[in-house]
Amino acid sequence: MSEGLFRLPRPDRAEIAPGAVHVPGWLSPDGRRELVAACREWARGPVPIRHTRLPGGGVMSVQTVCVGWHWQPYRYTRTAADVNGRPVAAFPGWLGELGRSAVAAAYGDPEAAARYSPDTALINFYDGSARMGLHQDKEERSDAPVVSISIGDSCVFRFGNTENRGRPYTDVELVSGDLFVFGGPSRFAYHGVPKVLPGNGDPAAGLTGGRLNITLRETGLDG
Ligand code: SIN
Ligand code: MN
Repeated sequence: MSEGLFRLPRPDRAEIAPGAVHVPGWLSPDGRRELVAACREWARGPVPIRHTRLPGGGVMSVQTVCVGWHWQPYRYTRTAADVNGRPVAAFPGWLGELGRSAVAAAYGDPEAAARYSPDTALINFYDGSARMGLHQDKEERSDAPVVSISIGDSCVFRFGNTENRGRPYTDVELVSGDLFVFGGPSRFAYHGVPKVLPGNGDPAAGLTGGRLNITLRETGLDG
C-alpha cells in the first residue's frame, strides 16, 4: 500500500512560536498560478532577477527580485544601483490585498489585517542547491509582520529565536501554497532555509522546478 495513504493530514494552522504562524495550503492553485506569472514578469525587469552580491565579496545562492523597494545588503532603495540603476517595479494594490488576507488567515484578527500595509516584496528563487543562512529581517523600520508565501519545491524552513542563530529553533516543512507569517514577539526572529527538498516544482502553477518564496513587508520608509 502506498505510504501516502497513511500520511497524517496537515493541520489548518500551527503556531510555531508566539506570533509565528504556519498556514499549510493557504494559497489556491489559481492564486499560485497568478503569483508565479507576476513573478516571472518582475524577474524580467525593470530590474532583472539576480544573485545578490554580499559586501564581503560572496554571492547569494538564491536569486532575488524586488517590488516596491529594492533590497540590497543591507538597505532599501528605490533604484537598483547595484544591478542596473533602474527604478524598482511598483508595488501593486492586489499584492497588498493578498498580504491583508494572509494576516487575517494567520492571526484571525480583522483589525490587524486591515492595518497591514506592505510596501515591498522580496521574491526569491531557489534552485535545488540554493540555501539561505539564518538571518533577521531587520532593514525595515516597522514591526509589522512579514508575510511569506512559498510555491514549488518544498523546503526546510528553520524558525529560531530573536537572540542568536542557535537553538531553540523549529524546522518546518514549507510546501507549495503554504503561508508563514511572523510578527509580534517573533518579528525579529532568526530564520533561514537550510535545504530545498528535491521535487519538480509546481507544474500546475507554471513552475517546473525549484522553489519560489515571496515575502511581503512594511518598510516604514517614506516616499
Ligand atoms: C527570507 O527569509 O527572506 C526568505 C525565506 C524563505 O525563502 O522561505
Ligand atoms: Mn528573511
